[in-house]
Amino acid sequence: MKINHSNIKKAKILLNKNECIAIPTETVYGLAGNAYSDKACKKIFTLKKRPNYNPLIIHYFNYQASKKDCVLNDDFFRLYKKFCPGPITFILELKQKSKISKIATNKKYSVAIRFPKHPIARCLLKNLKFPLAAPSANLSSKVSAVNSNDVKEDFGKKLKYILEGGQSFIGLESTIIDVRNKPKILRLGGLEVSSIQKVLKKRIKINLNSSKIVAPGQLKLHYSPGIPIRLNAKNAKDNEAYLLFKKIEKNKPNYFFLSKRGDLKEAAKNLYNILRKIKKSKYKSIAVAKIPDKGLGKTINDRLLRASKF
Ligand code: TXA
Ligand code: MG
Repeated sequence: MKINHSNIKKAKILLNKNECIAIPTETVYGLAGNAYSDKACKKIFTLKKRPNYNPLIIHYFNYQASKKDCVLNDDFFRLYKKFCPGPITFILELKQKSKISKIATNKKYSVAIRFPKHPIARCLLKNLKFPLAAPSANLSSKVSAVNSNDVKEDFGKKLKYILEGGQSFIGLESTIIDVRNKPKILRLGGLEVSSIQKVLKKRIKINLNSSKIVAPGQLKLHYSPGIPIRLNAKNAKDNEAYLLFKKIEKNKPNYFFLSKRGDLKEAAKNLYNILRKIKKSKYKSIAVAKIPDKGLGKTINDRLLRASKF
């Protein structure tokens, strides 16, 4: 991907002034600000209408940049070597002398960090003197944004700048793993749990619905297109959008396919686009046909299940 350096420069100037901007990442777009600035972090919460108890992910260029803020350990390095930069977020112990804003971490003793792979995000991070706090660039509880138009749709003129980076090539948020003690997955995401398992070679707990809401991606209603969704639907009414995994012969105007050839990666990449498109097509509800519950299909099903708690 070609990097437009004057865009990076513009982004840098705004971030240095503690403004918020949208940035592309390989998973979804992020609403980014200086993670060391209370002012910038406050702006992120206000813009996103995000409850202040829900902490932000901190984005770094590499682990060297992160080690002054959090305690890195063996499991972290094993996964880092294999998957970073990439769609994985680590929950780690926050160092006491860390400069990360307490507003970003909600005064927790832990912090979520990740190393995005998108070349534009990397070029920006490399050029900054601070990491970026960035939740997904959508209004709280709604579908994430996977291109700059989605971001515009949610924030309009309230947002100072969107750093253009094309379509997010994964299309689902990062997988969150708590590696402080026994590894525990807190959010399914763009990296399959089985790949993580292969590297760690030990049992990994999956805890997606903690009553303590460790990660509010665990909140019940989330990723919602704003209309009701019913799952495992064998058919759909005419005024309902019908979302199917794979293209079928008997096509109807209200049918939407996640993938032409039945490919889970392609389906993941299309999911949020299609949910937004359906909402704009004025359908009042969505019926979803069964989606294979393996690999990235598990993440897709997780998102649709949460979106169905409407
Ligand atoms: O792919 C992604 O992860 C995107 C891109 C922009 O990087 N970001 C993203 O951020 O999805 P957000 O804020 O929408 O989701 C971050 C999740 C939230 O559910 C939050 O509760 C959780 O991370 N989180 C943040 N800090 C945490 C912590 N210390 N312990 C547990 N969960 C944490
Ligand atoms: Mg989000």
